[in-house]
Parts: sequence; structure tokens; C-alpha cells
Amino acid sequence: MSIKYINNELFVENISVSKLADKYGTPIYIYSRKILESNFNSYKKGFSDINSIICYAAKANSNQNIMRLLAKLGSGADIVSGGELYRSLLAGIKPNRIVYSGVGKTVEEIKYALKSDILMFNVESFEELQQINIIAKKLHKKARISFRVNPDVDPHTHKHITTGKHGSKFGIMYEDALELYITASKMSNIEIVGIDSHIGSQILEVIPYKLAAVKLSKLIDNLEKAKIFIKYIDIGGGLGVKYQKTDRPPTPEDLKKEVMSVYSKYKDKTIIVEPGRSIVANAGIMVGKILYRKITGNKKFIIVDIGMNDLIRPTLYDAYHNIIPVKKTTKKPTIVDIVGPICETGDFLAKDRRFPMLLQGELIAVECIGAYGSAMASQYNSRLRAQGIVVDGNKVTGIRKREELKDLIAKEI
Ligand code: LLP
Repeated sequence: MSIKYINNELFVENISVSKLADKYGTPIYIYSRKILESNFNSYKKGFSDINSIICYAAKANSNQNIMRLLAKLGSGADIVSGGELYRSLLAGIKPNRIVYSGVGKTVEEIKYALKSDILMFNVESFEELQQINIIAKKLHKKARISFRVNPDVDPHTHKHITTGKHGSKFGIMYEDALELYITASKMSNIEIVGIDSHIGSQILEVIPYKLAAVKLSKLIDNLEKAKIFIKYIDIGGGLGVKYQKTDRPPTPEDLKKEVMSVYSKYKDKTIIVEPGRSIVANAGIMVGKILYRKITGNKKFIIVDIGMNDLIRPTLYDAYHNIIPVKKTTKKPTIVDIVGPICETGDFLAKDRRFPMLLQGELIAVECIGAYGSAMASQYNSRLRAQGIVVDGNKVTGIRKREELKDLIAKEI
């Protein structure tokens, strides 16, 4: 892989992380272009023998530089806001490769998407369907839609990122779907083109995708009996990545095989897949500096300059991110909490982790932060959001500047 130790020093591609930290400062998000490209290409390859569109889920990391690279590689986009539509178009993603999901699309956002002529809206409620129809009529357009159907399957992941089970706010109920499709088919400014389900995130097995496909396939057959013919089957995103040594994420090809064991009979349809995390997560590390160490009672703390405002996943989901020293050490690991500077008990990167008591000023790298790292960053505690760089062989490209103090109040009146 392109993020590895060479002579006990961590490198991203050909450049030493210590050098990058010296030059650009910490905390810093560092991405490997090679890994990004190879992750995208493994989707391309995995899905190459079927009609398919890979719609990168922009929410995972919507930096223009990263999205432009993916656009060049042929990616479409799965978006959930007008902001993501703006970013996708600006990055060069073609409108006819953009699908729009999300439970709360506003009038303005729907107008923007219709005017941009995106591929389809993944509709998540009856009222949203009505709204899209009304707006499309005003704009003298036909809105291409699919319904996001909740198939009620358990993807065996964290409860906050499970979306395809009964009781979730996402999608329409499987049992209501046929009737809703029939209603939509009678609407003047709606064109039904697809079906969609997204069952969750960080999914480490492909069986739940098949269970969802079996249900959706029954629905597709019933739709055809009702003379409703769709062109696109959107299988959502959600493929997991290796956060822990024991994680064994399936490959895009495994995913394709599993869903095609159900969908291969639909020769005329195009499969859409919406990966986010599995494209960008392992392409990024966050590098920080040890500010202080302390022992209180029987607890040892390492305090670093990475806060929950830079990486909120541990706080929000108890997510595990591997943390490694930037320079390998012979120091024995001990049990420590690695925490940030923010005034919240929840501001931690790791709890009770086996990690060497490195020295003040030494650097650590938090792995697998390319997805939902910078994308979920905030200025909480009036911290400046960190800079980001992409390493490509020997070359470094800045992709986001570190914020300055004046950015904190730029929009305040
Ligand atoms: N499609 C839809 C409709 C989605 O809602 C999502 C993610 C994706 C695709 C992409 O899923 P992925 O391939 O990235 O798993 N912040 C959380 C993850 C939230 C995911 C939300 N939806 C985290 O840090 O784990």
C-alpha cells in the first residue's frame, strides 16, 4: 500500500510524513492519490461486465480536488443536498450521472436539481413526490424519479448508520411501494425510471445486499405486471472498510456478484452503486502532534492537537481508528487514552488503547480518516479547521487551506 513505514518512518507514497508535518503543520489531513485511484478503479473493474454507473457518495469527502479526480476517472455522484450538487457539477461530474437521495429535499434544492437535469431523484416520501411533481410542472419539466425502498434488512452495523430497517426515517416502506409507484405513474410531471435502496454503512458482509435485492426484485416484477418499467436499480452504498485488524471487508466485485445473483435476469437495466467510505476512507490519515502527557490516578493520557472537531467518528459512533507513531519506536506500549484539546469528555480519539507513551512534540497518525473525517469537521471551540493535502508520488497538492482566525467570524453580523 502507499501509506507505510520505510526505515521506521511513516511515508505517504514517496514522502515522509514528518517532513510533511514540518512543512505544513498539524493537525493535517493527508491523502494518497494512488490509493484513491485504486479504490475507484476496483469498483470500475468489479462492475465492468455489467451496465453500471458508480455514483460516488459525495458526503464521505466532498473536497473539490478529490471529486475532480473521481470525475476524471468516470465517477458519477450520489448527492443529498444542493450544496453537494454544486460541488459535483463544479468538479465536472456529468448531470446524467448524478442521483439525489435524502429525506428532506427543499423546494430550492429540487428546483436546482431539475434545472441541472440530474439523472434521478431517489424519492423518500409521498409528500416529497407531490412536491417534485408540482415544481417540475412549474418548470415545464418531467422529473425522473425512483423510490428509495426500505427493504427491512439488518446490515449488522452501528445503529446510527443502519438505514434499511423498519422504523428508520429513510425511504418508503416496502409494503407501500407498489401503490406509491402506481400513484406516481399517474402524475403529469413525473417519469418513473428506477428503484433504490441503501441499507446502511460500514457493512462487512454482502448477504444483506442480497436479501434487499431479493425483496426489490419481487417489487420490480410486480411493477412490470402493473406496466411500470424501470431502467435503473440503485443498490446504494455502504461497503465497509478495514478499521480494525479483524475487519474483512468484501470487495466491490464480491458485492456485484452477490446482487447480480438476483438482478442478472434484468438485462435491460443499469445498476447504480453509491460508494463513499470504501473509495476514500483508507486513502487518508490525519497527523497530529502530542501536546502534553499526564497521569491522573491510574489513568494515562496523551493529549494531541487533533480534536473531535477534526474527527468526530470516535465520539459519535465509538468508532475505532487505528493510531500509529509517525516514527516507529522501541518504547513498550502501555494503556492510554488519546484525547483532544476540546472541552468535552467526549473529545477522544482512543480509549484504553495499547500505545507507547511517546514524547511531547512527537507525531501520531490516525488511520483511515479519508471518509467522514474532514467532511464532518467543525469549528467547535473556535478551532480552525485543518488543512488537507494530496500526495501523488513525489508531488504534494494542497487541497484545502488551514483556516485563519478571521474565518471564524467571517459570516457573523
Ligand atoms: N448512499 C446513501 C443514500 C447514503 O446515505 C450513504 C451514506 C451512502 C450512499 C454512502 O455510504 P458509504 O459507502 O459511505 O458507507 N458519518 C457516518 C456514515 C454516515 C453514512 C451516511 N450515508 C460515519 O462516519 O460512519
